[in-house]
Formats: sequence, structure tokens, C-alpha cells
Amino acid sequence: MAKFLIVYHSRTGGSQQMAEAAFQAAREEIQTCLVPAEQAGPDDLLDADGYLFCAPENLAALSGVMKDFFDRCYYPVLGRIEGRAYAQMVCAGSDGESAARQTARIAQGWRLRAVQEPLIICTHAQTPDAILAPKSIPDADLAQCREIGQALAAGLAMGMF
Ligand SMILES: Cc1cc2nc3c(=O)[nH]c(=O)nc-3n(C[C@H](O)[C@H](O)[C@H](O)COP(=O)(O)O)c2cc1C
Repeated sequence: MAKFLIVYHSRTGGSQQMAEAAFQAAREEIQTCLVPAEQAGPDDLLDADGYLFCAPENLAALSGVMKDFFDRCYYPVLGRIEGRAYAQMVCAGSDGESAARQTARIAQGWRLRAVQEPLIICTHAQTPDAILAPKSIPDADLAQCREIGQALAAGLAMGMF
């Protein structure tokens, strides 16, 4: 039976809420693991048939902890996960495009198949105080995260990907 892996990193809670929303929807459809980037490794990737990556944009780049996950896993799984489906979600204060591009390039290197456009949720946190504050992602945005989780999981369950 197909398995779905969600890997996320979050510093102030936004990406975590997004990943958890996707997880709650996905687990209704298929066996799904939700793993923080710090704890995720090559075996998690090899063991799953599809992926959802979720992380913040920091300093116009993917957050360092998420990048470390990709750095640790890139060569151990290269050539072993080609063609698998993936999607990504970015939590951003104002932009998010750079982080999304970075993940897409890494996924392209792995020859993963993007089955959804990147979902970028903007928290509009732009002052230092707002950026450092805990985030609360609105329900309407979490609904989009649930949709991505559900769509990927359902596609995997039906063998569409
Ligand atoms: C050091 C730092 C750099 C950041 N740089 C960016 C940035 O380049 N672009 C952007 O859109 N948001 C930026 N942000 C804002 C975060 O993306 C935003 O606060 C987001 O909610 C963080 O996700 P999290 O709540 O999952 O940690 C930055 C935040 C921090 C702490």
C-alpha cells in the first residue's frame, strides 16, 4: 500500500500548522507520516511513495533546517526516488518565491514529479517583532493546506501518481 511523507520545518509555528492541516486531511486517505525536518532522513524518503515539503522562507532562501534535511538526504537517495510525486508549501512573511524555487530545483535534481503548484502562505510579518512572534494561520489558508494534503494522498491511494 502506498505511503505519504510530510516533512516540515517551523520556527514560529506557521509551517507547522500548515503541515499539520495537510497531515490531518491526508491521513484520511492513506498511511501518512508527519516528520520534522530535524528528524527526517534518507530512509523516510525511500520508504514513501510521495512527498509534501513545508518550510518557511528565511533571508530569501529555504529555511536552514529544511535545507539541512535536503543536504543530508540528497546523495543517499539520488537515483532511487525518481518519478515520485511531490508538492510543497512555503510559509512566508512577504514573499516565499525564492524558497519555493529552491525546493523545486532540489526536487528536479531528484527527478521528482511536481503534482501541484507550490502553495505560498503569507503571514504579512514584516517587522522584527511580528516576525519573531508565534504565528496563527487563518482557517482559509489552512483549508488550502488540507486540500493539498488530501489531493496528494488521494492521488497516491488511487495509483494516479
Ligand atoms: C531570519 C528570518 C528571515 C526571514 N526572511 C524572510 C524572507 O526573506 N522572505 C519572507 O517572505 N519572509 C521572511 N521571513 C519571515 C518568515 O518567513 C515568516 O515569519 C514565517 O511565518 C515563518 O514561518 P514559521 O512560522 O513556520 O517559522 C523571515 C524570518 C526570519 C526569522
